[in-house]
Amino acid sequence: MTDPGFPGAGFGPWDEDPQVRHVPVLLKEAMDFLRVRPGGTYVDCTLGMGGHAEAIFRQLGPSGQLLGFDRDPEALALAKERLERTRERMPAGAPRLELIGEAFSAISRHIAPGSVDGMLADFGVSSLQLDEARRGFSFQAEGPLDMRMDPRSGPTAEQVVNEASERELADLIYEFGEERRSRTVARAIVRGRPITTTRQLARIVASAVPPMKNSPIHPATRTFQALRIYVNRELDEIRVLLEAAPRLLKPSGRLVVISFHSLEDRIAKDSLRNGAKQGIWTVLTKKPVTAGEEEIERNPRSRSAKLRAAERQGQGTGDREQGANSLSR
Ligand SMILES: C[S@@+](CC[C@H](N)C(=O)[O-])C[C@H]1O[C@@H](n2cnc3c(N)ncnc32)[C@H](O)[C@@H]1O
Repeated sequence: MTDPGFPGAGFGPWDEDPQVRHVPVLLKEAMDFLRVRPGGTYVDCTLGMGGHAEAIFRQLGPSGQLLGFDRDPEALALAKERLERTRERMPAGAPRLELIGEAFSAISRHIAPGSVDGMLADFGVSSLQLDEARRGFSFQAEGPLDMRMDPRSGPTAEQVVNEASERELADLIYEFGEERRSRTVARAIVRGRPITTTRQLARIVASAVPPMKNSPIHPATRTFQALRIYVNRELDEIRVLLEAAPRLLKPSGRLVVISFHSLEDRIAKDSLRNGAKQGIWTVLTKKPVTAGEEEIERNPRSRSAKLRAAERQGQGTGDREQGANSLSR
């Protein structure tokens, strides 16, 4: 199922008060599973606007440390500002803070094996990214077709839409958007080239594929999701992270992941299940945890969120130096 809260959805959540949208999703549940230990080392792989990170930071105490990743320099700067403000309000001393402006697939280059007590990843785009028309993630507003989380690297959605072959477009829209009418969409895109803006693309897709019966989502939603995932190599990033996580965690260290559509959730589910069979993980969530009615009411984006958590089994990797600093550089 495609996330109906995705920016292309064309209804509900994206028209509301921005303050409401800046609430971290499944915060209490994430913190309960993470079970932050004062003095421990924790990693927020997706800082975004720093909501989850702040909650972790507050619980760590002066001897703890928080490492945070975001490949979006704007998100990183905002999270830094927020956490530094929080630090100023901690008279007894704040945890150590290290923020890294890279993709979380680079995590093993920054963190020593067996040195982490808990990791959190809240996948997807942030409200900050969605709300900025110039980032090109949403067709709620007219903007350039960019969609890169890291504007310093990689092709833009505009390049993909204008340069990929019809076949390549159809395949990626099918694979990453789960759009059954991907061939029709790809044909319309190729005919409509050059395409430079979000709304132009949305119009072309909508004119090729009318809304599905009984579906509340805009017909371009799946295409936008597909392009975003492709441009940011989102699923490969998640696979690399989930493979690295057991190496980085201490025994009994915890991993919490929050997904927003079925492609992400399937990777998380399979990876944790396979890890459990191999004695790597104890899965703590038999079924994914979802938001309650009250949270959905307050923060409609949480409607499609699924949280999964696992605990690292075993005696550790054996390659951790005693007392090693968690930063491997
Ligand atoms: C849903 S937001 C996180 C929101 C955050 N938990 C909060 O409380 O504000 C996801 C963030 O992760 C970042 N992100 C997504 N994929 C990433 C990746 N592979 N590497 C680094 N950052 C990534 C995005 O740039 C975005 O800022």
